[in-house]
Amino acid sequence: MAEPPGDRILVTGALGQIGTELVSSLRESYGKDNVIATDIRVPDEESSFPDGPFSNLSVLDGTGMEKIIQEEGIGTVYHLAAILSATGEKDPELCQRVNVGGTVCVLEAARDFELKVFAPSSIAVFGPDSPDISLQSSPLNPTTMYGKTKVTGEILGLNYWKQYGVDVRGLRFPGLISWKAPAGGGTTDYAVDIFRAAIEFGHYECFVSEDTRLPMMYMDDAIRATERIMEADLESLGDSRAGYNIKGISFTAGELADKIAERIPEFTCDFIPDFRQKVADSWPNDVDDQPARDDWGWKADYDLGRMVDEMISNIS
Ligand code: NAD
Ligand code: SER
Repeated sequence: MAEPPGDRILVTGALGQIGTELVSSLRESYGKDNVIATDIRVPDEESSFPDGPFSNLSVLDGTGMEKIIQEEGIGTVYHLAAILSATGEKDPELCQRVNVGGTVCVLEAARDFELKVFAPSSIAVFGPDSPDISLQSSPLNPTTMYGKTKVTGEILGLNYWKQYGVDVRGLRFPGLISWKAPAGGGTTDYAVDIFRAAIEFGHYECFVSEDTRLPMMYMDDAIRATERIMEADLESLGDSRAGYNIKGISFTAGELADKIAERIPEFTCDFIPDFRQKVADSWPNDVDDQPARDDWGWKADYDLGRMVDEMISNIS
């Protein structure tokens, strides 16, 4: 392996739900010019984001990626580019190509240039045979293409660490709830979309049933977890390093609607499940995150009430 070309940061898929917030947070910590945002899309002309260096880059373009890594003096990659579960069920081939192919491109570049990598996994690694509260060690038998690509990502990440010494770290994010950027084609998007609909229209048609319970997390906790695992001492990380369970909040779609209605009394919600119900039913209700607590001191801050208050006040 060569020396890293520098100590700047490259973020793939930076215009997405997580990238929009992670890039801003990294720029606050490391300086605006030291974080290079990239995406296959280009930023909206009216948008103030990404407010700093941006390059158009597909994660399937290994040559383009290595060029940016060298020219921009990159030492760390936050690899966020992916096709999420609902889009992945509609176009499994694209999901496999981007999620597995893109991760291989990033890991190969990391191997060549001795880069540190953050590559997120998902609670979608679990399948119908997992317990309601899935453990770090629960079986990984997902039924969705997205979940299968995330299991592959974890296996690749751990393998690049063990075989080549590439410092790959990852988290199994729950469904993420945020207000700055729209959710990007996932099954948990209802828990984001419901807020804007409640505030703008006083009504939402939810695409999963009222009793659907899933692991979720407010974005501030997810960004904190990302920064925390990336700062953790190398020795503190165990074999879960490519995909630690992290627990946030677990609630049903009905409980979320009720909490919103406590703050917006005129709000009503209809539950009309579509193809995403099957995906949601294949995932656990919650996760146990003991290894993340033990290894690098993880604990979420936000509960359901606090998250709902933040979402409503920020969107309003
Ligand atoms: P998103 O869909 O909002 O953003 C993904 C970004 O990747 C988009 O901006 C898209 O334009 C870009 N992209 C797609 N194909 C690309 C390509 N070929 N090259 C470069 N960019 C490409 O997704 P997100 O919610 O920000 O998720 C980021 C990561 O976190 C993904 O790995 C996802 O699986 C994981 N994750 C997200 C959630 C969640 O609830 N948001 C939960 C679990 C895991
Ligand atoms: N929120 C993501 C999805 O629904 C889970 O990784 O696809």
